[in-house]
Amino acid sequence: MPKKISDKVQFLKPSGIREFFDLVIGMDDVISLGVGEPDFPTPWNIIESAIYSFESGYTSYTSNKGLFELRAEISKNIKKRYGIYYDPETEILITVGVSEASDLAMRALLNKGDEVIIHEPCYVAYEPLITLSDGKTVIIKTSAENGFKLPAEDIRNSLSRKTKGMLLNYPCNPTGASYTKKELIAISNELKGRDIVIITDEIYGDLTYDFEHTPLFTLPGMKEKTLYLNGFSKAYAMTGWRIGYACGPEWLISAMNKIHQYTMLCAPITGQIASIEALKRSYNSVLEMKNEYRRRRNLFIEGLNEIGIKAHMPEGAFYSFASISKTGMDSKTFAKKLLHSEKVAVVPGTAFGSGYDGFIRMCYATNTDKLKEALLRIGRFVKKHAG
Ligand SMILES: Cc1ncc(COP(=O)(O)O)c(C=O)c1O
Repeated sequence: MPKKISDKVQFLKPSGIREFFDLVIGMDDVISLGVGEPDFPTPWNIIESAIYSFESGYTSYTSNKGLFELRAEISKNIKKRYGIYYDPETEILITVGVSEASDLAMRALLNKGDEVIIHEPCYVAYEPLITLSDGKTVIIKTSAENGFKLPAEDIRNSLSRKTKGMLLNYPCNPTGASYTKKELIAISNELKGRDIVIITDEIYGDLTYDFEHTPLFTLPGMKEKTLYLNGFSKAYAMTGWRIGYACGPEWLISAMNKIHQYTMLCAPITGQIASIEALKRSYNSVLEMKNEYRRRRNLFIEGLNEIGIKAHMPEGAFYSFASISKTGMDSKTFAKKLLHSEKVAVVPGTAFGSGYDGFIRMCYATNTDKLKEALLRIGRFVKKHAG
């Protein structure tokens, strides 16, 4: 029977994160720095709005594109923050997380063999989504030496006649790398005048610590060619509510909605109502959580460097992509041994791209006591295994 599975799916690699976390299930006293999830509950006013929506009988489908009130609120919010207008009727689509939005984008854009540029290490879903849409990934490797930032000139060398799009994620999962406005202008200069779509996954945009986050669409000439993806999972601690959105040119949003209406129908109404509350009244909670993540980042990165794990300072998101080269172990061996001997779960660097065997990803969105204990345990482990 397995033969009945399509070749595309049969040959799809399992996620390096999930594969590893099957090992964690059933173990006690594990400190997990694995899954990329806020440890805060969703702010209470957002939860309350959902409870009230149930009490008021809001349990139905919504329009395919999502509740108009939510699209209008997203449009208003973007206009207020960045001075750019997206028409809520035609240029905004509510999706089941940024996950669905990126899948829709690939399926709406790609024909067989079309190329999409991605930068590695990157979020685990990009390559599989491109492959499932019959596209081809063109990979730009980034390195610790330049803070895992995408060198603008590498974009030029990666473009070809077949390039349909480029996926840019900043702040980046797994590295925390992001771009100042000046750095982003250098990137946009490479993209201007090119007939391609840039899909920006800015889900961690509100979790940028040291400078203002600049969405790519705000730069001159970029709005027309950018598909901006964002959602509520990370900044609002709403991973389980499954609400994301895409803002972009009408032709692309309408093509994505064509697929969405058959596959998803609409995003869950409760999450959409909660997201309206999130946008209307919860930005202070985002700022409070961000300040706490910043404190945790400072403590954790300093601690890692003290115990000999070389870690650069992430500019956003809540991950450290740190070097374990000192131990001489490959990242899977390191992660497995660390888990079994010290009960700390981390993700091997290879889950995010080939060639990152000397790295592990750790999520620091966990409380300070646990972070300190994790540092003690990792320190003990490294001391024992340092070459
Ligand atoms: C870069 C990036 N994009 C998208 C997602 C998925 O987000 P959502 O919960 O909105 O589907 C994640 C989740 O970890 C992520 O790290």
